[in-house]
Amino acid sequence: MALRQILKDGDETLRKNSRPVGEFDAKLQALIDDMFDTMYDGQGIGLAAPQVGILKRLFVMDLQDGTPPVVAINPVINACEGSQIGQEGCLSIPGKYGDVERPASLVLEAYDRFGQPFSLPATGLRAVCICHETDHLDGILFRDKVKGPLLSE
Ligand code: NI
Repeated sequence: MALRQILKDGDETLRKNSRPVGEFDAKLQALIDDMFDTMYDGQGIGLAAPQVGILKRLFVMDLQDGTPPVVAINPVINACEGSQIGQEGCLSIPGKYGDVERPASLVLEAYDRFGQPFSLPATGLRAVCICHETDHLDGILFRDKVKGPLLSE
């Protein structure tokens, strides 16, 4: 188990655009394993690579609702429909929460850790998490999109 340091709001790296993953090599596998360890350690449900200082387009997600953990590499969000507003937080903005509007449903298109493409329909919290983590890959934080006050714990 290897924990990586989570960058906090204010770090410029969080504001940069991440580059597509090209190689599904051992280094990528180690990064993915470390990202899961780091996410579970922080009691998060999602973590994007830029949050650990790696500007590559991937995130990990585990809603801890009995559904399997997800690794999404070079993710693209398609078929957005409707909207939902829900409270979000972020391991890079500890102790802060706020309401964000997201699509009610979407389809995630991405590659798994072995480079196999997959398609994952999502609603509810799963759709929220996919949008939140994909935003990280474009240097966007949830607080940029908060409707109303950013609340403290
Ligand atoms: Ni986040």
